[in-house]
Amino acid sequence: MSLSENVRRRMQEGSFIRKMFEEGNLLRKKHGADNVFDLSLGNPIIEPPAEFKQALKHLSDNPLAGMHRYMENAGYEETRSAVAKQVSLENNVNCTAGDIVMTVGAGGALNIILKAILNPGDEVIVFAPFFMEYDNYIDNHGGKTVALMTTEDFLPDLSKLEKAIHKKTRAVIINSPNNPTGVVYPEKLVREMGEALARKEKQYNTHIYLISDEVYSNLMYDGLKYVPIFPAYHRSLIATSHSKDLALPGERIGYVAVHPEIENKAELINGLIFCNRILGFVNAPALMQNIVRHLQHVSVSISEYEEKRNFLYNNLTSMGYKLVKPQGAFYMFPRSPIENDVEFVHELQKLNVLTVPGRGFGTPGYFRISYCVNFKTIEGSLFGFRKVAEQFRLS
Ligand SMILES: Cc1ncc(COP(=O)(O)O)c(C=O)c1O
Repeated sequence: MSLSENVRRRMQEGSFIRKMFEEGNLLRKKHGADNVFDLSLGNPIIEPPAEFKQALKHLSDNPLAGMHRYMENAGYEETRSAVAKQVSLENNVNCTAGDIVMTVGAGGALNIILKAILNPGDEVIVFAPFFMEYDNYIDNHGGKTVALMTTEDFLPDLSKLEKAIHKKTRAVIINSPNNPTGVVYPEKLVREMGEALARKEKQYNTHIYLISDEVYSNLMYDGLKYVPIFPAYHRSLIATSHSKDLALPGERIGYVAVHPEIENKAELINGLIFCNRILGFVNAPALMQNIVRHLQHVSVSISEYEEKRNFLYNNLTSMGYKLVKPQGAFYMFPRSPIENDVEFVHELQKLNVLTVPGRGFGTPGYFRISYCVNFKTIEGSLFGFRKVAEQFRLS
């Protein structure tokens, strides 16, 4: 056997998105790319903002001495200062460069946090449906995932959360705006979650970290504003990246921001920096650190995403699909008209529409649509959605 049992099992169980990607390639070969409507991937087609290209050109025309060398494992001081300034502004706290560790995307950020804080068997609570890599990342560092179902509106249920916490609970991961539902957590919920965690820490005399995955925090609609995490809970960390807000997922640039008043801060931050090194990331990409430090106030235009959200939501609901209207990110998570979400996704696939079954996010009975694609792709998919709706007599 060439693979460990764990890796083999995880590859088999968690391969829905990869499977759709491979099946999509087969369909594209067979029917031509224009006739396949791939709504399965969270890979934005939007190009990075003009400011990114200007900063890249400026750097290549005015190279900095030593800019391709190793640096401190935490990242360049100038970049961390720029990030700290933005985080301070958004969270109404006083973060400094010392509170920031630059990472290889949000994936790198989550991995260094979990590596730094988990003892074997420690539990990490997530709210289903959730980004499935959480389970892999938690497992990477010897932890155990505890998935709690959300309410009908895909919001965390705080009474369930309180019941699930015990001595072994080490962290809770939240993700708002959410992948796969597009739901945004209201400020009151975040505050009450912080209060619940503080109560539970006292009850068990433990430390529980709140990890806020904020990769979609700049992609919110309906005039909604970012809900800062630091004022809500003292032992909180932000894990994020510029994969979505600057449309740079291939460049792998992200960071961890630590609550500036967290207990034992120096030890925690040194641990995160150490883990950045020993997990083999070493440091976040140097070139990108030198670019994004000029772009902390910049984001892709959300109007295009909002338009696509409105168009797709209006069309799907008029066909009879049941879904919570997303308020952020670029996903929707409608209920599958039949119980078996895998079977439903296959019916759509027969009509060249690619989506992902809800069980790929720990929640069978639903399916995920990703609308970070061309308008033409969205329009083209409507025929398939309508046909399947008729087939299952939705309206
Ligand atoms: C919720 C969530 N967290 C983290 C990530 C990973 O982001 P990155 O590409 O910056 O590692 C993604 C990517 O799609 C995501 O959807």
